[in-house]
Amino acid sequence: MRPGGSLKKNSVRSSNSVGKLASTCLHFLLAIILFGCGGDLGNRPVLIKFTHVTSPVTPKGQTAGLFKKLVDERLPGKVEVEIYPSAQLMSDDDSIEALAFGEVQMIAVSLSKFDRITHEFQVFDLPFLFPDLQAVETFQASTAGKALLDSMTEKGIMGKAFWHNGMKQFGGPRPLKKPADAQGLKFRIMESDVLQAQILQIGGNPQKMAFGEVYQALQTGAVDAQENTWSNIYSSKFYEVQPYITETNHGYLGYLVAVNTYFWEKLPDDVREELDLIIQEVTAWGNQEAEKINREAKGKIIESSSSEVIALDKSQLQVWRQAMQPVWAQFEETIGRELIQTAKGAR
Ligand code: LMR
Repeated sequence: MRPGGSLKKNSVRSSNSVGKLASTCLHFLLAIILFGCGGDLGNRPVLIKFTHVTSPVTPKGQTAGLFKKLVDERLPGKVEVEIYPSAQLMSDDDSIEALAFGEVQMIAVSLSKFDRITHEFQVFDLPFLFPDLQAVETFQASTAGKALLDSMTEKGIMGKAFWHNGMKQFGGPRPLKKPADAQGLKFRIMESDVLQAQILQIGGNPQKMAFGEVYQALQTGAVDAQENTWSNIYSSKFYEVQPYITETNHGYLGYLVAVNTYFWEKLPDDVREELDLIIQEVTAWGNQEAEKINREAKGKIIESSSSEVIALDKSQLQVWRQAMQPVWAQFEETIGRELIQTAKGAR
């Protein structure tokens, strides 16, 4: 977080209500008082409310499910995990704020959506920076990558792990074989300035929108196109309302798994240590499975015949890469040249 920065991207939203600010402060105090009392009340198990926006069958959904299963097995009576998938509790944006104020204890939000708090996270959105998940993993395991986990701890958001989803593909109302085919199309994107610049670079019209609104926006024509992973396109049925999906693998989509700092620090040592081990274990499992889950989702989309999947050859991909390359220079200073070099070194 830059000094003086805000958890909220939209300053109008953050400043338009003194009442809301007062209530937020009250929540914050209540969180400290509650966690100060040990994180649980009497003998009741500690409750971890874990909210996320994708379906339980996605890489994130399955890994969250395994987390709950292992906690049930290894910490019975001590910790209870409630998982709220598919944005049924709240959007990603709201969940970041809810986590910071202790209203939920755990989230797994796309790295792109933290760009308002830590500009360094924008590195993950640079187009064609990471060729595959292995390169991302090497970068995340570097000293600079690991440091990102701790970059928001003082804001109440303690990073515990990085979880993969996969590489993003473009879906549209017409075959997107070259950047010029994107001209004039309204693209739904995640809340990220880099992604906004990327779409502008190919002549599209970027629309930041919550994940839970995308299907309907595509169906009604509020947006024409989108970018996401095979598993998200399949599980959220975007392929039913997108006649063409082009396999570009142009960007990475993964998550920061984070817990509320005060909640975590006040947990009994043995519980915290066991939870840490479980997080490590499920992270290794999920990051191993993510590619397979995405491959299977792609296969199901092809089988459905609802969307035509378009493969591109190396020279066609090179045209996309060149078209998007100027985005790097636009964000070099904000992200930091050194961090980009480290990420490049992981390729
Ligand atoms: C999106 O908004 O497209 C993704 O962040 C959804 C997700 O959590 O994978």
